[in-house]
Amino acid sequence: MSNDSSAKRLRRFRTGGAALFLGSVPVIWLVGPAAAYTLGVIGVAAYLYARDRVTREQYRTLRSQNEAALDARRIIDHGAFPLPRAGGWAASSDLLALLGELTLARRPAHIVELGSGLSTVFLAELLRRHGHGRITSIDHDAQYAEQTRERLRARGLDDLVTVVCAPIREQEIEGARYPWYDCEQLEDVDCIDLLLVDGPIGSSARSCRYPALPVFKGRLSADAVIVVDDADRDDERAMVAAWSADYGMDLEWHALDGGAAVLTLRR
Ligand SMILES: C[S@@+](CC[C@H](N)C(=O)[O-])C[C@H]1O[C@@H](n2cnc3c(N)ncnc32)[C@H](O)[C@@H]1O
Repeated sequence: MSNDSSAKRLRRFRTGGAALFLGSVPVIWLVGPAAAYTLGVIGVAAYLYARDRVTREQYRTLRSQNEAALDARRIIDHGAFPLPRAGGWAASSDLLALLGELTLARRPAHIVELGSGLSTVFLAELLRRHGHGRITSIDHDAQYAEQTRERLRARGLDDLVTVVCAPIREQEIEGARYPWYDCEQLEDVDCIDLLLVDGPIGSSARSCRYPALPVFKGRLSADAVIVVDDADRDDERAMVAAWSADYGMDLEWHALDGGAAVLTLRR
């Protein structure tokens, strides 16, 4: 939506609000005070809802323009493909910044992530330009896994990343049954220095991200760090608290978009 059309919408809401107010006198006279009160409440609720939608659309436009400006700069300055857009299904920009900071500070030799996409491309670019090491990116969906491979190939980053497609399968993990990435596809994944937990899809089942630590705990290096996206959700909060208690891990909360938690093994 352009700024012009959002300005027009705002003008329409204001005109509508004024008309509603002026029209209320004959309405009270026609339908009586109780019905007019009900209509008034409905009108105000509708107005607030519509105003909220405009604000959200304006926010989206602003964000998208901001990212497009960064893309344009990147193309001019580096002759490089822009990164896939942040937010929504993809990692938010503030999560990327946190991952970037941790990667530069800790120099992980092996990054493993659950849920491929923007984060994969971002981390691979970072490793190529400023670091060393490799990435294993795990995706349950063959199409998304291929899309990530394609994005990596387009940027010449495919030698740094192995994208593993491990479909979700109901399996027994530490005595309980969970739908999680098919563990048989993950047998070779070890020596993990940074683990990003951003999959499977949060809404797919209760505690659907919980198996990550039971499965990978024995494959973490001594100073490994675990980053959990969407940590503000009830499920993830409970999961992270349980991991911290059950596996003796220090826990840090980060007030990012959707929340993030960072766990490290207690020494
Ligand atoms: C939260 S996403 C992972 C995002 C990834 N870390 C990134 O930064 O782009 C979890 C999974 O959702 C799936 N996914 C990604 N984009 C999607 C979309 N637009 N609609 C449905 N599923 C999507 C992929 O299979 C991905 O592994």
